[in-house]
Amino acid sequence: MTKVITYGTFDLLHHGHVRLLERARSLGDYLVVAVTTDDFDVARGKINVQQSLAERMESVRETGLADEIIVEEYEGQKIDDIQRLCIDVFAVGSDWVGQFDYLKEYCDVVYLDRTEGISSTQIRSEKKRMRLGLVGDVSFLTKYLSESEYVNGLDVSGICARHPERLQGPLRDLGVVTGSLDELLASVDAIYIASTPSEHFEQIKQALERGIHVLCESPIALDLNDFEELEAIAHKADVRLVEAIRPAYSTAFKRLCLLVKSGVIGKVTSVDATCTSLIEGIGSSPEIPAGVWGSMGEWGPIAMLPVFQMLGTDFSDLHMVSRRFETSRKLDAFTKADFVFPDAVASIIVGKGVKSEGDLVVSGTRGYAYVPAPWWRTDYFELRFENPANNRRYFYQLDGAGIRNQLASFVRMAESGTRTRYIDPETSRAIVRVMSDFVDGRNVTQIA
Ligand code: CTP
Repeated sequence: MTKVITYGTFDLLHHGHVRLLERARSLGDYLVVAVTTDDFDVARGKINVQQSLAERMESVRETGLADEIIVEEYEGQKIDDIQRLCIDVFAVGSDWVGQFDYLKEYCDVVYLDRTEGISSTQIRSEKKRMRLGLVGDVSFLTKYLSESEYVNGLDVSGICARHPERLQGPLRDLGVVTGSLDELLASVDAIYIASTPSEHFEQIKQALERGIHVLCESPIALDLNDFEELEAIAHKADVRLVEAIRPAYSTAFKRLCLLVKSGVIGKVTSVDATCTSLIEGIGSSPEIPAGVWGSMGEWGPIAMLPVFQMLGTDFSDLHMVSRRFETSRKLDAFTKADFVFPDAVASIIVGKGVKSEGDLVVSGTRGYAYVPAPWWRTDYFELRFENPANNRRYFYQLDGAGIRNQLASFVRMAESGTRTRYIDPETSRAIVRVMSDFVDGRNVTQIA
């Protein structure tokens, strides 16, 4: 019996795929089809895959051409599969010519002509494109614009800033450049908000009421009632309100949370997260430049994410200690928040005028997780134990500082109508609760 194997993503199965499978099958008596996992695709730069692994495997199964379907999870797996499954022929489309010649040592390698004029990428890009508007004055909006190029089905079409005339570079060339949110909302399907936290509520409300999806930097609101109102509007209008805390969309951070929750480091007893970045310009004059936030405004929600995702939101005690910039008295230069949970503690340190090591440590009864600085942009973490021989290191691909995955997830959520969230509403609620305490000075000690 001649056994043939072929590999692919097989997203939105099309006749190019079917023709390839038919010809691969005719090369032998038994066809094994290996379908890539979502992670493996992300790791090789395919972030736009629309269907889940289960759906893609099901489509391959429905063709009736595969005798066996397996999963491709990691680089270098092909040699192992070929040896393990006693494969005689490796077949793949001609877009890969030459790239798998190294397998000739193990079996025959056949490149089949690719079917012209069709690809998953093409099908994905023909779907209706989402027009995204940017809101805010921060310079990293340029990064959102450049990262959007990698996301299928998304066009950044306009920007609303407090000072549109001060915008730099490609942001100035967008179709709509305005100081009026109303004008921007008239020409987009979704917005990404990176304005100051105090502006979020009104801006989100205006967008949701017009049926526009919202991706917003956290906190979504500075008051729990406002948050609940926005949630209700989004629900009623059946549009997505998504919090833009970047690590929540990164594979490394998601895996870390799952591992910790599965008990590998025992019972979690302490979560300690630090995020700092010194910023020029504030602290030297009483005037606060547009788009500049204090330590809690910029870093608080990010630092709170691992706390609430790993320990839940049922904290009984919260105490914050904060110091303001000497001149810009409205902004905090440094804040430390300590949380007490029924069976654990957590602390976050955030700074815009104080620098520290930006790592994340999760301490458990059997070991601890260590994510080196800058933990919020990590592709790597370690689990460490009493016996160093048991330590484990984990690496995952992270492209575009986490923005790319976040935008791709947002488009998918809006398109599919799914209410699944990367940040659960309880976590969002807890963040709003802490931020509102901070803004109102509850549970806060000011130091000089
Ligand atoms: N294939 C083909 N003809 C096409 C498209 C794909 O023969 N028009 C083959 C590929 O060469 C590969 C297999 O089908 O051997 C699976 O390809 P996959 O990457 O899943 O499909 P694409 O349509 O190329 O996907 P994408 O656009 O996301 O790269």
